Amino acid sequence: MKRIAVLTSGGDAPGMNAAIRAVVRTGIAKGWEVFGVNQGFAGLMEGDFTPLKQRDVGGIIQQGGTILGSARAPLFKEEPGQLKALDALKQAGIEGLVVIGGNGSQTGAHALHQRNFPVVGIASTIDNDLFGPDITIGVDTALNIALEAIDRLKITASSHKRAFLIEVMGRGCGYLALMAGIAGGAEYIVIPEVPCNPEDIAKELREARERGKKHGIIVVAEGAEYNAQKLVEYFKERKDTLGFELRASIIGHIQRGGAPGAFDRILATRSGAAATQCLLKGQTGVLVGLFKGEMTTMPLSEVVGKTKGVDLRLLDLHRELEQ
Ligand code: F6P
Repeated sequence: MKRIAVLTSGGDAPGMNAAIRAVVRTGIAKGWEVFGVNQGFAGLMEGDFTPLKQRDVGGIIQQGGTILGSARAPLFKEEPGQLKALDALKQAGIEGLVVIGGNGSQTGAHALHQRNFPVVGIASTIDNDLFGPDITIGVDTALNIALEAIDRLKITASSHKRAFLIEVMGRGCGYLALMAGIAGGAEYIVIPEVPCNPEDIAKELREARERGKKHGIIVVAEGAEYNAQKLVEYFKERKDTLGFELRASIIGHIQRGGAPGAFDRILATRSGAAATQCLLKGQTGVLVGLFKGEMTTMPLSEVVGKTKGVDLRLLDLHRELEQ
């Protein structure tokens, strides 16, 4: 192998740059030329490649986002888009590709693998919904950003004796909400994996008030049937049932923009190095990540089309602790 390329795809995640840096530097150390693909699979279809040298990835380990840019590329889901990408790779003489991203991105990586192009995926999404890895690049940083928001909102909530609905990202997965709720000492957590009856939230808040609490924090996953907006609607005509005045705060993309913390920088660096090692060994069609604490791989065929669930025992633990 002489030339490889690396791309970031789907929602950006803090730590993607550290992974790019590791792919570039370990790839060059193996004697290869490394190219960055601009704007994910959209750029791949257009043959939008930039050669990357060691110094081009200097000073990015601490930056959030992705220097390569990212995109959602619906055209790549279809055969013509994939053939166009393969043609662009061939034209540029690129013989291996590293795909840094989450569920949709790894589905794209798998499609290229099925068309016999050597691909290695790196597990990266703030949602932590990728089947297989323990934790993906970006989760830890996004979680800490959500936590900071919760801590801040709790202060103003206490000053005004208010309850706050705090909506966090996660798509259809409740991982971020569950963990942020536990770490933030929330009074209630709403996740898509468990049906929610808003009356239970009202009861919890009333009881919290009766126990002398000055605030009520409800962490809500964006993918829950009752997201923050729906809960605000629900309680509009039932304000008196809560025991607190209610406010809502949707954290949204703020969670994605942070500088990566130490955990994500290290996870991303190890993943990038492991990915080029896989290409060197000819071990392709795999996802690189942390599996049961080990930096290892899982075939992409076992990863795609599935979603990781959350450990509901942690929700039970949270309920036990909320007193
Ligand atoms: O997959 C990461 C994620 O941030 C999800 O949590 C969220 O639902 C989605 O991306 C938002 O997508 P976009 O950035 O395209 O609005």
